[in-house]
Amino acid sequence: MTDWQIERFRSDHVRSEFSCGVASLDNFIRLLASQYEQRRLGKTYVAVSPGSRTVDGYYTIVAGSTPFESLPTDLGRKLPRHPVPVALIGRLVVAKENQGWLLGEKLLLDSLWRASVLSDDLGIHAALVEAIDDKAASFYRRYGFVSLEDQPHRLILPISKIAARTSV
Ligand SMILES: CC(C)(COP(=O)(O)OP(=O)(O)OC[C@H]1O[C@@H](n2cnc3c(N)ncnc32)[C@H](O)[C@@H]1OP(=O)(O)O)[C@@H](O)C(=O)NCCC(=O)NCCS
Repeated sequence: MTDWQIERFRSDHVRSEFSCGVASLDNFIRLLASQYEQRRLGKTYVAVSPGSRTVDGYYTIVAGSTPFESLPTDLGRKLPRHPVPVALIGRLVVAKENQGWLLGEKLLLDSLWRASVLSDDLGIHAALVEAIDDKAASFYRRYGFVSLEDQPHRLILPISKIAARTSV
């Protein structure tokens, strides 16, 4: 097991052979992340071993919103009936050879901490994740995320619940 550190994406991070088993997610870090950075379409954070530039995992975070009507009843209570601002964690990925060593958890907690810090300066009510399949959705449920109405693969966690979890 490695004591990974998480860094802002740089163009010299080594990622040409990154492989998690999902082609679109491999393709993103190999070919697209750089352009997303430059155009401010998404900010990527990568996990590397100390002293290494090789990407072992990553996540991307962007500003977004979700319609009030998409919220589960519990979460919609006491909120105004307009779109709810969120930090969208669109991709969260661990390279195949590093899966099962809690790197996914480390990346998720880092992304939630980041969303929580950002919410001090920008209206962000919740973190929203897009799971690629049922297995990924159950990974997120372990951390308190709940599915949006009629969208089992889009899951939400209010910032108010994040603060307590990531302060450990
Ligand atoms: C899903 C993914 C990010 C998990 O990363 P990981 O480093 O293998 O997971 P971790 O080792 O941090 O596991 C953390 C916990 O979640 C559990 N877990 C891991 N993958 C899981 C899955 N697919 N479904 C349910 N639970 C899962 C682990 O058992 C562990 O719990 P435990 O400590 O009680 O055993 C990784 O498997 C991955 O990148 N998969 C391909 C891409 C993907 O599906 N990304 C997610 C959505 S885009």
